[in-house]
Amino acid sequence: MIILDTPIDMHLHLREGKMLKDVLPYTANQFAAAVVMPNLVPPVDNRERLESYKNEILQNCENFTPLMNIFMREYSEDELLDLADEIFAIKLYPAGITTNSEAGVKSIEKIYPVLEIMQELNIPLSVHGETNGFVLDREREFAAVYEKLARDFPNLKIIMEHISTYNLVELVDKYDNLYATITLHHLLLTLDDLIGSNLNPHNFCKPVVKTPKDRDALQKIVRSGHKKVMFGSDSAPHSIKNKLKGAAGVFSAPVILPALAEFFEGDNEAFQKFISSNAIDNFNLQIPKKEEILIEEEYIAPMMVGEVKPMFAGKRFSYRVKNS
Ligand code: NCD
Ligand code: ZN
Repeated sequence: MIILDTPIDMHLHLREGKMLKDVLPYTANQFAAAVVMPNLVPPVDNRERLESYKNEILQNCENFTPLMNIFMREYSEDELLDLADEIFAIKLYPAGITTNSEAGVKSIEKIYPVLEIMQELNIPLSVHGETNGFVLDREREFAAVYEKLARDFPNLKIIMEHISTYNLVELVDKYDNLYATITLHHLLLTLDDLIGSNLNPHNFCKPVVKTPKDRDALQKIVRSGHKKVMFGSDSAPHSIKNKLKGAAGVFSAPVILPALAEFFEGDNEAFQKFISSNAIDNFNLQIPKKEEILIEEEYIAPMMVGEVKPMFAGKRFSYRVKNS
């Protein structure tokens, strides 16, 4: 049996409407809280949209804390003062780099005034760190941007989301103010799981899963319990229809805790740090305590959730989350 204290998913996509109703229980029944991403159409980038989205989430769950992110744009100081208490972080998407990011940032210099204010107000910056270069080089190339941001804003907490390369693993220790989230799929999969045999669109996401060397570096830092490394699923549901049109995003919510229980092989201390304590310590999160118990019983991942096919659909795990 594994008891997890207050598990938190630091990077989650819930969508809206029926899709939200279908997917939210998988997170709300297994986590105490999650950081909810704002890349809706239109994006969550003002108070009204933020409040209505948060209400929609709260109406569809119990005993679960959504930590809201807003979409980066050129906010004024007054807007940020008004929003500061309502949000966890502001998410920077380079324009066009991933799903629903067309309204993203075209030039980082333009948002420097926003970053100054965020630094003063102690609002973390969350970043989708990819350039528009060759697909396997995008994250590595973005490292220079992370380094510049880390140097220019030494008191701004910067979260490198869903890191997928050994290059960014190395950056975590280079700057005090750089933090990282790691997903389940980048921790367990490589390009072979996407294109090594039959193309598997359900393992396709941005950033794309990478090489064994990259995956091994991610596994090593997660197993070490590194305090700046946190779990963020980037669970990103798309209907099967849209997946077959090429949509990027892996829907991992139904399998996260059983898969991580197997990954940690009994190292419950490292598991607890990755799934909760590191995030709580790094960002001083105040989340109502919630225990999740994993028991050693078979769990078979669902084949479908609404119109979405989950990661590892149909796979058998040796742990299940009690009461979910
Ligand atoms: C995410 C989505 O579908 O919203 N897709 C993905 O491949 N990860 C967006 C994102 O986080 O990049
Ligand atoms: Zn995401």
